[in-house]
This record gives sequence, C-alpha cells and structure tokens, in this order.
Amino acid sequence: MVTPAVRVEGLEHTFRQKGREVRALDRVDLEVGEGEFVALVGPSGCGKSTLLRVLAGLLVPTGGSAEVGGVSAVGRPGLVAFMPQKDLLLPWRRALANAALGLEVHGVPRKEARARARALFGVFGLEGFEQAWPVQMSGGMRQRLALLRTFLVPSRVLLLDEPFGALDAITRRGMHAWLQAVLALEPRTVLLVTHDVEEALVLADRVVVMSPRPGRLVEEVAAPFPRAREPGIVTSPGFVAAKARVLAALGEGGGTLAEAGEERRAPGA
Ligand SMILES: Nc1ncnc2c1ncn2[C@@H]1O[C@H](COP(=O)(O)OP(=O)(O)OP(=O)(O)O)[C@@H](O)[C@H]1O
Ligand SMILES: [Mg+2]
Repeated sequence: MVTPAVRVEGLEHTFRQKGREVRALDRVDLEVGEGEFVALVGPSGCGKSTLLRVLAGLLVPTGGSAEVGGVSAVGRPGLVAFMPQKDLLLPWRRALANAALGLEVHGVPRKEARARARALFGVFGLEGFEQAWPVQMSGGMRQRLALLRTFLVPSRVLLLDEPFGALDAITRRGMHAWLQAVLALEPRTVLLVTHDVEEALVLADRVVVMSPRPGRLVEEVAAPFPRAREPGIVTSPGFVAAKARVLAALGEGGGTLAEAGEERRAPGA
C-alpha cells in the first residue's frame, strides 16, 4: 500500500482556556495523496487553521492521529512547509533575509540559504526587491514573498492557510495562474485552506468541505478539470456544477443553500 503524503485519523481538538472549552475539530479523517492538491473550505471558525497547525506540529491535538509521509506529526514541527494565515514576515529583515529564513531554520548556512532564495526571486515576481523591507512591498508582493519562503522549506508537503486571503480579485487571479506555473515546475503535495470556492476549484484536484465548528468533513468534490486551468474555466458547465455542490455542502450548516440554487439557475454562467 502506498503511504499517503498526509493522513489524519479521528482527529479531534478541544481548546481549554480559563475553564472555557471550545471544541474546534470533531473526528476528522483526511488523506492527501503524494502530489495531490487538496483545498479545504468551511465557515469561519470551523477549525481549518487548527487542522493545519496540528499537521505543522505546532499544536498537540486532544485526540486522534496526524501523519506526514507515514510519520506522526503530533508535536513534531518541521515535516511540512507551512504558510500560516498571517504572512508573518519579519519587519526587521529585508525581503531576501525573510525568504531565506525557512532554510536557515532547517540548518542551511546563511550564505547558501540566501543564494538559493535569490535564485527564485524572479520566478516569484520579486526581482529587484531583494533588499526591500516588507513595509515597502505591496500586499501581493508580501504574500508572494511569504510563499517563496514556504516553497524553499525542504519538504514535499505544503500547507497554505489562505495564502491569497488579503488580495483583491484581479491580483488573486494572477496569483492562481502563477501558483499553477510554479507547481508545474516543481510538483508538491498541497493542502490549501481558502474561503473562496472558485479559488478552491480552480487550483485543487479535490475540494473538502468542513462543517461549522466543531469541524467535521461533510463533503468531497472532485475538480477533474485539465491543467493548466485558465480563468475562463469558471463558466464551464462542469465547473459551475462542482461549485454548486460545494456551496450546497457549505449551506447544510451555514445557510448558503440559496446561493448554490442561484448558481444552478444562472443563465449561461
Ligand atoms: N489558541 C486558541 N485558544 C482558544 N480557542 C481557539 C484558539 N485557536 C482557535 N480557537 C478557536 O477554535 C475554533 C477554530 O479556530 P480556527 O482558527 O481553526 O478556525 P478557522 O476555520 O481557521 O477560521 P477562519 O476561517 O476564520 O480562519 C474557533 O472557534 C476559535 O475561536
Ligand atoms: Mg483560519
């Protein structure tokens, strides 16, 4: 049997703080195959970031198992490349130094880390900004820089928590094309969290839908569209049908069924 890149079984997590309990995850089972791109969608607060933080080894869950490449990730950071929901660029480090950080943390000598980071600035659309401070960069550039830092981490598995969350729709579309191109150059296994159903279906092989808190997986929708996917794909009948299924699954607990219905009726959409 082939070991999946990511395997989560019976995962549960309850936050306990000052006598208050918040059950964030409820018996989550998920497998992501080697080289597969899975998008995770679900209402705000359903536990998506919690799931990623468990897989990144940063949060020890109250139950269940989480493995990366057949190895338990529980309490064990470093098995994945993780881009947290906030970009977490260090304001006192220039762009190049920020990009190299993930490699340096993995023990790569500073000079080599920076040389490897520098080589990718062009690919990530950041050429000429090696010495810029994060504050001098646009939102899109900062997110590409955070992605570059994540990509440089020597791991086959990327966990991306709303990597394009702060961007406007046009910049986002550009980033989708760009991310697909980068992954075509160097394929990875990706687990992406997003609020944007279209983004999920444009980028992923499979979209997994979570219920409101405590998060459970309630639906899986395949996105079997040929690559590279052009922005125009969103109006194709197969895409529209897949989107309606995801929205309906979200609506079961969150009240967006009407939206899914509209989607089905939309003429020529
Ligand atoms: N450190 C913490 N202590 C206590 N409760 C927490 C903590 N982190 C998250 N929670 C709670 O756990 C639940 C899940 O949070 P999480 O951040 O995983 O949601 P999410 O699905 O990523 O939401 P969003 O889409 O808004 O980013 C929320 O109710 C949140 O308030
Ligand atoms: Mg989150």
